[in-house]
Amino acid sequence: MPTLPGDRLTLTRPDDWHIHLRDGAMLRAVMPDVAARFARAIVMPNLKPPVVTAADARAYRERILVAVPEGLRFEPLMTLYLTRDTTPEIIREAAREGWVKAVKWYPTGATTNSDFGVADVRPLSAVLEAMQETGLPLLMHGEVVDAEVDIFDREKVFIDRTLSRLVEDFPGLRMVMEHITTREAAQFVREAPANLGATITVHHLLYNRNAMLAGGIRPHYYCLPILKREVHRQALLEAATGGNPKFFLGTDSAPHPTDAKQSDCGCAGSYTAHAAIELYAEAFDSVGRLDRLEAFASFHGPDFYGLPRNTDTLTLMREPRPVPERIEVEAGVTLTPLRAGERVSWRVAS
Ligand code: NCD
Ligand code: ZN
Repeated sequence: MPTLPGDRLTLTRPDDWHIHLRDGAMLRAVMPDVAARFARAIVMPNLKPPVVTAADARAYRERILVAVPEGLRFEPLMTLYLTRDTTPEIIREAAREGWVKAVKWYPTGATTNSDFGVADVRPLSAVLEAMQETGLPLLMHGEVVDAEVDIFDREKVFIDRTLSRLVEDFPGLRMVMEHITTREAAQFVREAPANLGATITVHHLLYNRNAMLAGGIRPHYYCLPILKREVHRQALLEAATGGNPKFFLGTDSAPHPTDAKQSDCGCAGSYTAHAAIELYAEAFDSVGRLDRLEAFASFHGPDFYGLPRNTDTLTLMREPRPVPERIEVEAGVTLTPLRAGERVSWRVAS
């Protein structure tokens, strides 16, 4: 149990079950934020080119480890990108590497760097069977991509058209509906068998679509799946703080250069790693459920993945701190964090 004398909260060190770390200068820029908070993270494979084999994952993992600041410990849990060329043999080989922990399915065109994805996983049933055998979960970006489906409905339609059948057809395959954003998704996951879990981001717990669109268009709040109405935010808060082990922390922190977001066609993704656990504390505190943060952030994820819980701790202090306007990535390139120029209510005790 976390200790709770008001302004100080000590938790078992949390993990992030969905993060984008990128590569090169961006990886080096974000790694200190991530490793200062999380012991482990499920690292998304949507690089250019994507991480599709065990060899790609091994090389990427090495680059991540090099970027971890001295004195901090961080364990990247790697994922493979599911493409039409993924074979059962690729899956078995990856599973033999103890540190590949999942396979990510991006419906083609659904989000940033999803062009290598597959429209449907059904034709890949041999691959899904190999995942089931080797115990690698299927992580999914749960949105349909049909142009005729409204962007605010894409998650719900994915559940109706795809996920409901997938869950029936593969009862032995662990699956995670990543970054759920709707009341319908929370309800579907809650009622589905235990092999289906879900991650919930902190921005979807704290903001509805007004944050992005009312009183001016704010590109740093644009991410996919897109922020929804307030009723959905409320439902997500209820799911995250309700103590149900199917829901766990996944920030979907997705850094992009400031220029790439502030453009005529800005890309999707919000950077939250600079204050991730602090912002989750704000969200849980907003409904008087700080006592449930530890289970959501530190227990449910490892339990779902069949990994040991962390044994060390992280302490948060309730103390407002400013968020910088920009984070330097390299010469001429910056990253704009969520809440840029504003405050967060907690800080990590050093
Ligand atoms: C992610 C990214 O930038 O890689 N963007 C986002 O809006 N969440 C991709 C993703 O997870 O959809
Ligand atoms: Zn993501």
